[in-house]
Amino acid sequence: MKVLITGGAGFIGSHVVRLFVNKYPNSQIYNLDKLTYAGNLANLSDIENKPNYTFIKGDIVDAGFINKLFEEHKFNAVIHLAAESHVDRSIADPLAFVFTNVIGTVNLLNAAKEQFKKDNASFKRFYHVSTDEVYGTLGDMGLFTETTAYDPHSPYSASKASSDHFVRAYFDTYKLPAVISNCSNNYGPYHFPEKLIPLCINNIKNNKPLPIYGKGENVRDWLFVEDHARAIDVIFHKAQDGSTYNIGGHNEWTNIDVIRLLCRIMDKKLNRAEGTNEKLITFVKDRAGHDLRYAIDSTKLQNELEWKPSLQFEEGLTKTVEWYLNNEEWLNNVTSGAYANYYEGQYVKR
Ligand SMILES: NC(=O)c1ccc[n+]([C@@H]2O[C@H](COP(=O)([O-])OP(=O)(O)OC[C@H]3O[C@@H](n4cnc5c(N)ncnc54)[C@H](O)[C@@H]3O)[C@@H](O)[C@H]2O)c1
Repeated sequence: MKVLITGGAGFIGSHVVRLFVNKYPNSQIYNLDKLTYAGNLANLSDIENKPNYTFIKGDIVDAGFINKLFEEHKFNAVIHLAAESHVDRSIADPLAFVFTNVIGTVNLLNAAKEQFKKDNASFKRFYHVSTDEVYGTLGDMGLFTETTAYDPHSPYSASKASSDHFVRAYFDTYKLPAVISNCSNNYGPYHFPEKLIPLCINNIKNNKPLPIYGKGENVRDWLFVEDHARAIDVIFHKAQDGSTYNIGGHNEWTNIDVIRLLCRIMDKKLNRAEGTNEKLITFVKDRAGHDLRYAIDSTKLQNELEWKPSLQFEEGLTKTVEWYLNNEEWLNNVTSGAYANYYEGQYVKR
């Protein structure tokens, strides 16, 4: 199998690439990534020299480049994670999200469709990795299921919803063997420190304020990133063409409670008196269009494909804190911007 993974230098993508490279030594894994601010090849330093791994720098928005890449490599499958992924950035610059998340996805679908048309049997799967944010927001009760109507509220979720619709349309229209999964919020190692949990870990470490939107009442369903990567592996290998799976941890927390737990874990890890870190919490003006609650029903995935999350939240969060404290160099290189110059084990001047 020649598997093209897009966005493999990002947070979730790097975990998926690592899992596939290590677990499937007879498959060739190609990581296509533009290396935007969110892409960091140091996330993959442990597997970059494996014989079944190849990195390709490129932009999914460039249709000519994508078509040539498919003609050259004749991939058997695609796992598509490349995206602009930060809601705040989508509010500041929606068009960047349309280019990568919508047009980039359609470019990949077109190239896969052409290959599938030429050689039906050789193209096995187009796996589109999406988010629960396409479903909009919940009140106090209820869960998102695979049949919940789409109701995106941010430019990010609108662009992901649009890409999901295109993937389904290519299955319905061209019979392209596509699957989609919609996952809840991830946390874990290699998370770029602009997102809530790694941002707060970094700020606690440096005794800086912990900015919490509004009153911190927004609820998210948190899943450890390696559990997401395992779910992607299971769905990639076992799901029926045209199917959709929700992935989530049945693990709902308000933002303020997540940060309070993080503060307690880090009080202990940093030998600070209990309650020290909580004093850093600072409430800031709420994000525009901020969805109140996301919660995923992943029963279908658990029953049909026998996946379940492996970690309790406190365990996963402790593991994540330990990773950030033990990987100071990674964190410093990301916060200083040096990570952009990482190349095969070294930070080179360009
Ligand atoms: N982070 C979450 O909690 C979460 C939850 C559910 C679904 N998702 C989805 O999972 C996927 C990965 O999310 P993430 O958090 O790892 O994102 P990320 O921002 O950490 O990584 C995205 C990667 O895509 C690359 N990329 C961006 N634009 C590109 C382009 N035009 N061409 C090629 N590569 C490009 C970036 O360089 C980066 O390496 C996204 O599709 C996202 O919508 C994320």
